Amino acid sequence: HLTYADYIKAHIRTVSDWPQPGVQFRDITPLLQDPKTFRVLVDIFVHRYMDQRVDMVAGLDARGFILGSVVAYELNVGFVPIRKKGKLPFTTIAEQYELEYGSATVEVHADACTPGQRFVVIDDLIATGGTMTAGVKLLRRLGADIVEAGAIVDLPELGGSQVIRDAGIPLFTVCDFA
Ligand code: PRP
Ligand code: HPA
Repeated sequence: HLTYADYIKAHIRTVSDWPQPGVQFRDITPLLQDPKTFRVLVDIFVHRYMDQRVDMVAGLDARGFILGSVVAYELNVGFVPIRKKGKLPFTTIAEQYELEYGSATVEVHADACTPGQRFVVIDDLIATGGTMTAGVKLLRRLGADIVEAGAIVDLPELGGSQVIRDAGIPLFTVCDFA
């Protein structure tokens, strides 16, 4: 029989050699495009967090905004965007992290959280884990209590989900591609 995780996974498309030769890109757009599958996906997250006293959902730029904002709406809580450097207009705090070549920076507004607020942090996919770890660090600097980091897809061979859990961040992913 098919589990919800199998059902979600079956609607993720693999695109070979994109954006670079040798990469197998896991594309969530078919999952978003199919109304029933998108609803199942949102419901997995909403049911997971509805009794967890969540105060706020944060989403990671850009694909984390798609799921994160709908989950926030359904939980009847607010939404905080964690954005790539230079996109947020007000006072920000920043976290830099290492990529395979070079580095990246994510930012959040300094008033995005009041100390003790319970946050869920959402992205589409965990690869090296750098983006999610940096996003959680930002919110923790503002005093957030991280209920969980959540993503649709884990790529366990890249080691990111292990790095996240080793950093003391609870992590939930719906499915993985080994
Ligand atoms: C991708 C993906 C995650 C991140 C995962 O975003 O959506 O946010 O990379 O990689 P990591 O675990 O190694 O940090 P990307 O930077 O491609 O941005 P986009 O959502 O704006 O396309
Ligand atoms: N899919 C989507 N986003 C990604 C991937 C992938 O396979 N790898 C790194 N970011």
